[in-house]
Amino acid sequence: MSKDLFDLYGKVALITGSARGIGFVLAGGLAKAGATVILNDIDPAALDAGVGKLRSEDLNAHGVSFDVTKTDAVNAGIADAESRFGQIDILVNNAGIQRRYPLEDFPDAEWQAVLDIDLTAPFVVSRAVVKGMIARKAGKIINICSLQSTVTRPTIAAYTAAKGGLALLTKSMAVEWAKHNIQTNGIGPGYFKTEMTERLWKDVDFDAWLCGRVPAARWGDPQELVGTAVFLASAASSYVNGQVIYVEGGLLASM
Ligand SMILES: NC(=O)c1ccc[n+]([C@@H]2O[C@H](COP(=O)([O-])OP(=O)(O)OC[C@H]3O[C@@H](n4cnc5c(N)ncnc54)[C@H](O)[C@@H]3O)[C@@H](O)[C@H]2O)c1
Repeated sequence: MSKDLFDLYGKVALITGSARGIGFVLAGGLAKAGATVILNDIDPAALDAGVGKLRSEDLNAHGVSFDVTKTDAVNAGIADAESRFGQIDILVNNAGIQRRYPLEDFPDAEWQAVLDIDLTAPFVVSRAVVKGMIARKAGKIINICSLQSTVTRPTIAAYTAAKGGLALLTKSMAVEWAKHNIQTNGIGPGYFKTEMTERLWKDVDFDAWLCGRVPAARWGDPQELVGTAVFLASAASSYVNGQVIYVEGGLLASM
């Protein structure tokens, strides 16, 4: 199989929420596969630092700061990116948050914040980006879903509802936009060490539970998501549509 199938040279990728964590690692991975990458984050200082880190590795990285939950800011940010870089060929909807409360005490505002960022924002950002993809008859959308798109644990009902919804939104995007040669798929990470999961990996009991539960017997390294992202961003996945690929050390396969 030719390695050109996975080549992203000449492609422009936008990754939301990518100043740090999984989004930052995916941005670096797509850039190393040849793409020009546009990092986005709500935190402009962290965004500048992230762009600077990738540039120091001679990668073609740029930053566009906006809040993915603000429709006007999203539309302006996408228009700005398209005017500076010509087009967006690959969109990674990665920005996300987690909030933990017992379900019977989940505050309205926290519930809504999770739904806004983890479910509604991928729709709002995709709606802005897909117009150019439809006009060019080509595009790749990757929604960062979660293990919690299909299973859950106590206290994370809002996140589970949002990520479950995102897995089905992925199917809707695939079904509506396939005729324009746009492939939309999801990646469902298991447990990866980032700021979002810091409380969990610093908790010795949770760490022991997880390592006993995951067949791989360890946490994931965000770099282990890059191969799936490059596959879903490249010509190698031209007939893969509406799927969520779980990257979780075998957790879902085990009793
Ligand atoms: N870490 C894990 O184990 C794990 C597992 C499954 C899924 N995920 C998903 O992966 C994605 C990235 O998670 P992470 O662990 O890297 O999180 P993180 O908290 O380390 O990084 C998230 C980034 O998103 C940015 N962000 C937050 N709200 C934003 C907004 N409104 N607009 C723009 N940017 C915003 C933050 O500033 C931050 O840089 C999320 O969608 C998360 O749900 C993570």
